[in-house]
Amino acid sequence: MESIKVRIPATVANMVCGFDILGMAVENPYDEIELRLTDKSGITIKHTDDYNLPTEAEKNVAGVSLIALLEEYSKPVGFEMTITKNIKPGSGLGSSAASAAGAVVAANLLLGNIFSKEDLVRFAMNGERLASGVKHADNITPCIFGSVTLIRSIFPLDIVPLSAPPMFVTIVHPQIEVKTSDARQILRKEIQLKDAIQQWGNIAGLVSGLLKNDYELIGRSLEDVLIEPVRSILIPGFDEVKKRSKEAGALGGGISGSGPSIFMLSKEAATAKAIEQVMSELYGKMGIEYKTYVTSISRNGVCVVNN
Ligand code: HSE
Repeated sequence: MESIKVRIPATVANMVCGFDILGMAVENPYDEIELRLTDKSGITIKHTDDYNLPTEAEKNVAGVSLIALLEEYSKPVGFEMTITKNIKPGSGLGSSAASAAGAVVAANLLLGNIFSKEDLVRFAMNGERLASGVKHADNITPCIFGSVTLIRSIFPLDIVPLSAPPMFVTIVHPQIEVKTSDARQILRKEIQLKDAIQQWGNIAGLVSGLLKNDYELIGRSLEDVLIEPVRSILIPGFDEVKKRSKEAGALGGGISGSGPSIFMLSKEAATAKAIEQVMSELYGKMGIEYKTYVTSISRNGVCVVNN
């Protein structure tokens, strides 16, 4: 096999209360990467979109992830990569993680599956460091493992794949850009013990709810007392979207990753659709361009596309 095409899901990092440790892969939107193995070293990158992303491997999130992978591969090979992005950079839907994760999964398949999924997360974290200045893995991990994942520790990497009951995910992406680096910069560096306790309760509640298929517990645990109060200020209409979505039957939800996208979870498809209506109505009234998705959890993460 000399070339391969993969489909890479968008991801919702944090899942409200689990800042930097929880993440979920969704079916839509998704990116695609075509990767060709070459016998001469070097990485060439082509984009089929208008996002003006760098094509120099050292400046490209997928490029630096492949460089990290090749550093641990004994033979002098190279790659030609074509990236088709539908996950808009700066959307809060794991756009940089999708490029990084897709590239290393595709490369591993071309090289005969020699690396573990944990290795691939490690390589792809170089892309996140390039994009946001920090090696966080809460987008990359669900992208590679599928479903919901918990990162118990990042150094050393300790990943816990989690099951989740069937759920629908409604996403609204107001067309404003929030840079992850900026959204991290504004966070409080110190927190109060009482807030930490509340957050721990919610994280434990959310993980238990996912494993026990307890929708009510999932809903109650989708609460963030640390990050959301600070970041939501960057997202026009956030409080109203959240309030009205819950009234429409959402289990709960919040900022997707570092925003500006907002996601809501629901048990029924009809509820997810009704939430999409609410979101459209609110952003329509505010005169802010937006995009919505009604989707579900991606159980497999990055997958091979058969041509
Ligand atoms: N956990 C990261 C953050 C995800 O919230 O900054 C960035 O997509």
